[in-house]
Amino acid sequence: MTKILITGGAGFIGSNFVRMLSAKGGHELLNLDALTYAGNLENLTELEADPDYHFVRADISKRKAVEGVFADFRPEVVVHFAAESHVDRSVLDATAFVTTNVLGTQVLLDMSRQYDVARFVHVSTDEVYGSLGPTGLFTEESPLQPNSPYSASKTGSDLLVRAAHHTHGFDTVITRCSNNYGPYQFPEKLIPLMIANALEDKSLPVYGDGKNVRDWIYVEDHCEAIARVMTNGKAGEVYNIGGNEERENIWVVKKILEILGKSEEQIEYVKDRPGHDRRYAIDGTKIANELGWTPKHDFESGLKATVEWYLANREWWERVRSGEYREYYEENYGAR
Ligand code: NAD
Ligand code: DAU
Repeated sequence: MTKILITGGAGFIGSNFVRMLSAKGGHELLNLDALTYAGNLENLTELEADPDYHFVRADISKRKAVEGVFADFRPEVVVHFAAESHVDRSVLDATAFVTTNVLGTQVLLDMSRQYDVARFVHVSTDEVYGSLGPTGLFTEESPLQPNSPYSASKTGSDLLVRAAHHTHGFDTVITRCSNNYGPYQFPEKLIPLMIANALEDKSLPVYGDGKNVRDWIYVEDHCEAIARVMTNGKAGEVYNIGGNEERENIWVVKKILEILGKSEEQIEYVKDRPGHDRRYAIDGTKIANELGWTPKHDFESGLKATVEWYLANREWWERVRSGEYREYYEENYGAR
């Protein structure tokens, strides 16, 4: 049994990763999560009775609390998802982004070295590379040119992980992935927001001209890629992960409406996001050639499956939108 500490396991990608590793078996998993607005234990209710899964509520930027968790659990591997992850929120206030993404990552690196963790997997993002023009792809050698407070804080954490390897010889691997979609994504991000608004007959706010491009990857593909990097990646290396599925935002929004049989009249063009990155697209040659990983899901069928998940799990996102999911922790784990 490998002991794996997963940070941010109550969020979107982290909860999908915990579920995937639990299904694979052979791991004892500890999910460390602060349960911010984005953390939702209802994402993992089916694992509550699993003796090889544990949850602890802690903030990665609080050194003492994190040290207590490392001292008790003694993880062999750390997979680090916990972050403030939404660009629009970072435009409004970057404070939590610096505290969690930068300071929190350094605390985890320090504790991981102190408690002899064998491998630290850092889940970074393609947004560290900034924005592309109409052609070209991000490779692992592309310059780091983050444009939003979110991506700048993620770049800070990414470089601290690099420094821990270079300075201390600590075993780290970094993944930089494109835009994820799929079950359990918080309905502030483009795809779940548009699905939920469409179903509630609300307007669908498209920023600017709607022609910004993202490279979409189904969350299960991203999780499989992280698992591959965790087990087979080379220490000190960075691996890009992408879906090979570039789409303009307006294409995505119209496709969601088409799948739901709803009218395009629900679309509303709104003021653009400040500093809005125009295009992201990943060159995934390195992970394909060195680790034999490529994405399995195509965007059209993945998007259809995702829309169907939100239709079948209406209670999940309605509880998130109403704030009721916040009560779940107290009911099941006691007062905060
Ligand atoms: P999310 O916002 O859904 O989840 C983040 C989780 O981190 C939540 O459970 C939250 O409670 C937890 N968290 C936040 N601050 C914390 C703190 N101080 N201490 C402990 N836990 C804390 O995010 P996501 O979309 O699942 O993204 C997970 C990771 O993947 C992030 O590091 C993000 O930068 C990266 N990433 C995301 C995408 C994407 O498209 N969503 C793409 C590439 C990389
Ligand atoms: O590329 C990886 C990144 O993808 C991750 O690192 C981030 O954590 C994740 O949030 C995501 O960032 P984006 O800013 O690309 O995702 P978001 O879903 O916020 O927006 C996707 C695109 O849709 C972007 O061009 C902005 C646009 N958009 C978004 C929202 C929420 C709209 O037009 N309307 C909206 O209401």
